[in-house]
Amino acid sequence: MTKGSAGTTPATTVLPGDDPAAIAAAAGVIRAGGLVAFPTETVYGLGASALDPVAVARIFEAKGRPRFDPLIVHLADPGELGRWADPDDAADPRVTRLVAAFWPGPLTLVVRKRPVIPGIVTAGLPTVGLRAPDHPVARALIAAAGVPLAAPSANRFGRLSPTRAAHVVRQLGGRVGLVLDGGPSRVGVESTVVLLAAGRAVLLRPGGLPAEAIEALVGPLEAVTDAAAGLPALAPGRIGAHYAPGPPLTIAPAGRRVTPGRPGERLGLLAASEAGRARAERAGGPFAAVEVLAPDGDPVRAAARLFDALHALDEAGLDRIVAQPVPEHGLGRAVMDRLRRAALDRAEA
Ligand code: TXA
Ligand code: MG
Repeated sequence: MTKGSAGTTPATTVLPGDDPAAIAAAAGVIRAGGLVAFPTETVYGLGASALDPVAVARIFEAKGRPRFDPLIVHLADPGELGRWADPDDAADPRVTRLVAAFWPGPLTLVVRKRPVIPGIVTAGLPTVGLRAPDHPVARALIAAAGVPLAAPSANRFGRLSPTRAAHVVRQLGGRVGLVLDGGPSRVGVESTVVLLAAGRAVLLRPGGLPAEAIEALVGPLEAVTDAAAGLPALAPGRIGAHYAPGPPLTIAPAGRRVTPGRPGERLGLLAASEAGRARAERAGGPFAAVEVLAPDGDPVRAAARLFDALHALDEAGLDRIVAQPVPEHGLGRAVMDRLRRAALDRAEA
């Protein structure tokens, strides 16, 4: 068997989710930056600490996702909403009504996030999907870990969502060290995802909670149209649905000398590694701002830093950003996908 960058992952262990010792072991894995697959009432999730960007990057690597999608942040208890949601959105009567009625349960609420949630969790969006799952094993794990869990469904990219521990092992065996077995998922389809922010109410994904039940409490839901999905009011940082920072971004072929196009131009550098940064600064520059994706160029670390680094460059008052390409293996593919989109958006704007 060939060894990828996840080649050192030990064999997958399945433990009974109703065993307190298994919960304690799984919580330890989460706190150490590892991955645990766990049952929820909808489908099994592949979880990592939502506050640890490198751990979250490992989720994308294990799933083989070629790009970053925003992840749902799972809470142990409905009362924790206010710790992670923007205070105005947490106090929105529509939000409090839905939480009171349907949490814990198969409803994900997308609201503006607090800054403590890392950019990789939300794929650079200013909003976060929050959900309190209705499964005793999920709740026990999140509570024992002491951190909310970022978790997509525990399947390989583009494959079927798992509703049993055996489904997880079949797809992710060797890519996740620990699976908690909580029996078959009761709901069996993913949560309903509703965006409630800036006075809008948009059904982003139909799911385990009927839309009618939600509409009975908050009024009609908008369908996802391009306009609704764009919601410019929700993307003040400009790294919105298109992942483009404010200043134009170009990807510099490896080895290309980068210098200001005119005197006084404020150039930003998104370096792939410390070595890349040194090379760029020796050959060209000056750079008004530099962000290094990963000191050693490790694609998992680069992925974990990507959106936060782009936000930092966006806020540095630059005229132009030049990004060094990262090697396109493992998570490097997802990083390059986002960089190309960011560059393309500007070219088409
Ligand atoms: O039932 C579920 O929701 C399962 C279990 C594990 O909780 N999770 C799940 O995650 O289905 P995932 O990653 O497969 O789907 C998450 C969905 C995606 O459609 C994503 O685009 C949307 O939620 N989502 C998450 N955060 C969002 C945000 N900030 N803005 C818009 N959509 C968001
Ligand atoms: Mg999924």
